Amino acid sequence: MIKTNKIRKYFPAVKSGRMVSNNAASTQVPIQLVKLLKKLIVQYDNVHRGQSRASMLTTAKFEASYDTIAQFIGAPSRENIILYRNTTEAINSVMYSLMTEFKDGDNIVTTFMEHNSNYVPWYGLCKDILSKFGIKVECWLAKFNQKTGELDLVHLKSLVDKRTKLICCTGASNFLGTKTPIKKIREIANLSGYVQPTGEKKSYLLIDGAQLVPNKFIDVKELDVDFLAWSFHKMMAPFGVGVLYAREGLLEKMRPFLYGGDMIAEGKVSPEKVEYNVLPWKFTAGTPNILGTILSAEAIRLLMDFSLNPGQYKYFMTDKKLESSDVKRAMENIEDHEKILIEEALKILDEIQTLKIYGPKNSENRTPLISFNCANKSPFEIAEGLDKLGVESRAGCHCATLAHHYYKLDPPASCRLSFYIYNNINDVRRACLAVKKVCSVK
Ligand code: ALA
Repeated sequence: MIKTNKIRKYFPAVKSGRMVSNNAASTQVPIQLVKLLKKLIVQYDNVHRGQSRASMLTTAKFEASYDTIAQFIGAPSRENIILYRNTTEAINSVMYSLMTEFKDGDNIVTTFMEHNSNYVPWYGLCKDILSKFGIKVECWLAKFNQKTGELDLVHLKSLVDKRTKLICCTGASNFLGTKTPIKKIREIANLSGYVQPTGEKKSYLLIDGAQLVPNKFIDVKELDVDFLAWSFHKMMAPFGVGVLYAREGLLEKMRPFLYGGDMIAEGKVSPEKVEYNVLPWKFTAGTPNILGTILSAEAIRLLMDFSLNPGQYKYFMTDKKLESSDVKRAMENIEDHEKILIEEALKILDEIQTLKIYGPKNSENRTPLISFNCANKSPFEIAEGLDKLGVESRAGCHCATLAHHYYKLDPPASCRLSFYIYNNINDVRRACLAVKKVCSVK
């Protein structure tokens, strides 16, 4: 279990008395990372662009950050890791990189559960881009069960065929909280019969891990995903860094998403030919978010220390390779903690007669978020009422617009509470009792 009493003191926002319960949007930054930022300022310099000691030190720390990120998800090496600004940009990069591979008649299968970031890029590709070149590619949407919040695998399977280049699916819904069965989706993708330009016969699988990776142990080799995207601002790091993991072999063949700067092999530019840099720099055009990258990798290390042994630093600010067994233990600890929190939230909120709760009814298959609507109040009124009681929430469609329309919600909105490792059971009780209070006011 997470010893919340030992880690809450490290989060200035929590210490200030804030009831931080909108963590699915962004989590809080611990003081260790704020102090680290201050420390890094002394050697502040660009990477791969200077011979000073400061530049060398910063470059080494920046490059090592890619190794930490790769180790965290069981990726073979830093060559599988590309960093962008956020999950949205990472997913868009796949769309732009694969764009020229799509053939007339191809399709993409995604779901009604998606964040707009894993639907709209594919919509844009089909309707705005390829159609202009006379290439007809369709984007199909798999349904989910409105009662259980679970993905309809039978429907998904019925949409996938030998024209399906790509299946794009969330790993966990930011509205329903549902964790999707990635291995089963992989099996469906493997059986599609689509012939990729490499000769491989299967659909690629892209998982939007924004709500999954911060909360669950992920081994990309075991899950056998082709692409995985997530962001660090949902796992204790400051805003500005998102990840694209891609399976070995894919990035070598893929087109760069952004051109210029460090993505070019040193000196290899002529009017006739430009040669690209080695991985992962082939996909790192322009000066990257250097400090954000270092802080993001250290956020992983700190998250592990917080989970395994709060107050002791086995990984934070060290060069130690992350042991897979430690990553597994740390993330399972987090998952267990979150299950207890969400179970309590489900229990309390379920007692409110006027409340409709979305997503799975048990904590097993859920991330630590819970969305709901109240019969006699708009979600925005609830969120404002909660704020007056000192409870932070989010009202709106959470960018899961398709799913809100799927429930015929008008406006397409719900109110959402979401928790993270520093939340304890008292936070959950306080937040849910506040919902009870707000919903009972006529
Ligand atoms: N996608 C984030 C959320 O669910 C921002 O709030």
